[in-house]
Amino acid sequence: MTETMAEVRICSLSAIPPGEGRSFSAPGEDIAVFHTRGGRVFATQAACPHKRGPLADGLVGGTMLICPLHAWKFDLSTGEAVMGECGLRTYPVRVDEEGQVILTLDTHTAC
Ligand code: FES
Repeated sequence: MTETMAEVRICSLSAIPPGEGRSFSAPGEDIAVFHTRGGRVFATQAACPHKRGPLADGLVGGTMLICPLHAWKFDLSTGEAVMGECGLRTYPVRVDEEGQVILTLDTHTAC
């Protein structure tokens, strides 16, 4: 079995204000990218596993994300559900020397 991984440039980190998220279409996936007030960056699936709420519009506090529709809570650093029945798919993400958010697409599935 072969696992393919690809790096995709998403946007400039400056396009995501600290404490907010933005959604993006990546090849084969819709992704939500979060920029915490502490300067960390996380990427998850864009739609909430509950009823497909727009996670990028959720409330971010530290590494905690609260879905804007029914308040399921997720840990952005692991994708685990803190309150809710199903976690999030997460994606490796980094910021390069030019301040661009680079996402690695792979198959890390939470549930
Ligand atoms: S859609 Fe996210 S908690 Fe319901």
